[in-house]
Amino acid sequence: MLDGEQIPFTAGQTIMEAATDAGKFIPHLCWHPDVSTHGSCRMCVVKINGRFSASCTTQAATGQVVRNNTHEMTSGRRTSLQLLFIEGNHFCPSCERSGNCVLQATAYELGMLSPHFDHFFPDRPIDASHPDVILEFNRCIQCELCVRASRELDGKDVFALAGRGMDSHLIVNSESGKLGDTDFDVTDRAADICPVGVFLTRGQGFTVPIGSRKYDLAPISEQPFAHHRTAMADDANDLGDPIDAADVVGIDLHPATSATVRERANHPSGAEVGR
Ligand code: FES
Repeated sequence: MLDGEQIPFTAGQTIMEAATDAGKFIPHLCWHPDVSTHGSCRMCVVKINGRFSASCTTQAATGQVVRNNTHEMTSGRRTSLQLLFIEGNHFCPSCERSGNCVLQATAYELGMLSPHFDHFFPDRPIDASHPDVILEFNRCIQCELCVRASRELDGKDVFALAGRGMDSHLIVNSESGKLGDTDFDVTDRAADICPVGVFLTRGQGFTVPIGSRKYDLAPISEQPFAHHRTAMADDANDLGDPIDAADVVGIDLHPATSATVRERANHPSGAEVGR
């Protein structure tokens, strides 16, 4: 049962897969049907029989009461998004992807109006060593979709995540650490699958005018493999109680984000991060 509706599933399917097959949208950043599941962004966390769990890693089962499109879930996801935005350097108006970005589309979907927290402004030099692609690490959200796609779809293993907590970052698997010293190709799925603007094809940018861009035409909840609107539930449909930023930080965030925020807040639970 998802938001009060019976959803069919087959044995072994996750809640995310069953929901997607049924045309129901659960927000997600690190999940993609073409690669293995990672379960790190926590955007897809739902409430299953009263407990929080990632829908992309939890198998669907009979008797589950899953709450997804509620004020509580939307509020928590919005806080997670705000933390992702301050962790990197996301200057959307000047980004060459020009709105073709799952992170930005999800922020619109969930009604995020500001980053809310103080920006970290990390120093992340770009990699312009490849003849066809520039790596703009400032936009990386460490979803590892490119890591998995390179390994599982391209058969190359070009990318990896290194470091922990605040030091966690995307790296290139070459002796020099430069993309130009790998067999990466501009047509690799690793580039195509990136939900943000890390992979920039040289000579391309701002290709689709405002008003005609993918998410101008339809919100992410109505895009392929995502058809169900999850914007803040109105009171009549709200199935959960609101929680605040401190609850979310304390409960269930991207591991790197949680560690980072707690370090910055110098508070073991992160409970004083919100303002
Ligand atoms: Fe499920 Fe990222 S989409 S944890």
